Amino acid sequence: MVSRVIPVDDFDLVIFGGTGDLARRKILPGLYLRALAGQVPPDARVIGAARAENTDEEFRALVAEAIEEFVPAARRDPEAIAAFLSRLSYVAIDATGDSGWPRLKALMRPDVVQAFYFSVAPSLFGALAERLNTQNIAGPQARIVVEKPFGRDLASARALNATLAAHFDESQIYRIDHYLGKETVQNLMAVRFANILFEPLWKSEYVDHVQITVAETVGVAGRGAYYDKSGAMRDMVQNHMMQLLCLIAMEPPYHFDPNAVRDEKLKVIRALDPVPAQDIVRGQYLAGGGEGSYLADVENPASTTESYIALKVAISNWRWKGTPFYLRTGKRLRARESEIAITFREPPHSIFDDASGWKENVLVIRLQPDEGMNMKVMIKDPGPGGMRLVQVPLDMSYAEALGDAHDDAPDAYERLIMDVIRGNQTLFMRGDEVEAAWAWTDPIIEGWETRGDRPQPYDPGTSGPEDALMLMHRDGRRWREIKS
Ligand code: BG6
Repeated sequence: MVSRVIPVDDFDLVIFGGTGDLARRKILPGLYLRALAGQVPPDARVIGAARAENTDEEFRALVAEAIEEFVPAARRDPEAIAAFLSRLSYVAIDATGDSGWPRLKALMRPDVVQAFYFSVAPSLFGALAERLNTQNIAGPQARIVVEKPFGRDLASARALNATLAAHFDESQIYRIDHYLGKETVQNLMAVRFANILFEPLWKSEYVDHVQITVAETVGVAGRGAYYDKSGAMRDMVQNHMMQLLCLIAMEPPYHFDPNAVRDEKLKVIRALDPVPAQDIVRGQYLAGGGEGSYLADVENPASTTESYIALKVAISNWRWKGTPFYLRTGKRLRARESEIAITFREPPHSIFDDASGWKENVLVIRLQPDEGMNMKVMIKDPGPGGMRLVQVPLDMSYAEALGDAHDDAPDAYERLIMDVIRGNQTLFMRGDEVEAAWAWTDPIIEGWETRGDRPQPYDPGTSGPEDALMLMHRDGRRWREIKS
């Protein structure tokens, strides 16, 4: 296969929280894989920064272990690993104090791209941003990368945006939503805007409804303290699912340009109707399959936080008025399966008998696993016996269609970190987008807090609480099955 890797500009990347979980699992293995692919220039360097006193050697040992643990064996090349480790150094730094900053400054090269990854608690963002500025570390090509959760409501997101804006321009701020880095999520834009086929039908006149499902089998054990304060609404809907909804619902941007794309997404978020209580179902998983219940996992027997949510969302604009978007996401469900299904309406008039077996056209975009697309179309059921119809799939699996190119595609973090270095913000959330998403989310959460709503229990290994089925049944529709 011809390599399509284009090296990025020379850079120094500082990871605050460089010994933390995200750095070990995703950021550092991701950087190694990009170096292995030949995308990282020879002089580029990675600097781990955290509170603990570590030597460069100790940090390198930690990264070597992380590569061992999180990079598949087939891609662990001893020479490439040694070369990658030699790019690393470490600074013990006090985010809210003075120690460590002069050493960091001495390590940074002012004339290359400087990326500062804030892989730390949001409460430290302000202190870090301020010190990067006051200590004159951030040069003209500096950019900062921040992780979710970006606030827990509109007020806190606004405060965070204001804190960052005091030290960095919006064009220097990269808010990560790792769903946007997934190949299949980017593919939503390619499918919609590189084909004439779908766009004329992409509106309420032809689309009956849209289902967006992000089902997970994992529970929240091990991260209960964070999760119990968030729940599925804050953890998944306000960000990842919102982004999926935007990419499906947005108008074509005039160009594949960061602000043009983000302007269109913002318009969708602003057009979302408030969601009434009867259009929301929340759930909490019970114990089962040898695993504990949600309440045990978060060690809070009185918790009313949801590990599952289904909601019916209406978009008040010309394109989508009258086409509901049904969203659902949850933990400990039957399978790990994320997909978007667009169900089209009936033809305006049928020339066939009622009994002929007609079913709706459905376009299913499988995001993970088994990435691909499936278009369900009607054809004649072969053989004698009159005109009977049968629904058949036009199925495309990325793995089959694209082979190695699919298998070798960078994972979300690899792609996003390289975009930071390239200075491309298309796949990052803009401040106003995040605020608009919270402005829609806040009243929903406030509603159930005020009413004291409790989530419904559901058995693990199922597709969620019973009432979620009703959410669609009462509209004469049904969820697609989550297959095991
Ligand atoms: C994270 C959430 O942002 O996304 C997790 O905090 C969730 O709760 C995860 O499990 C899902 O990501 P992915 O890439 O596994 O679908």
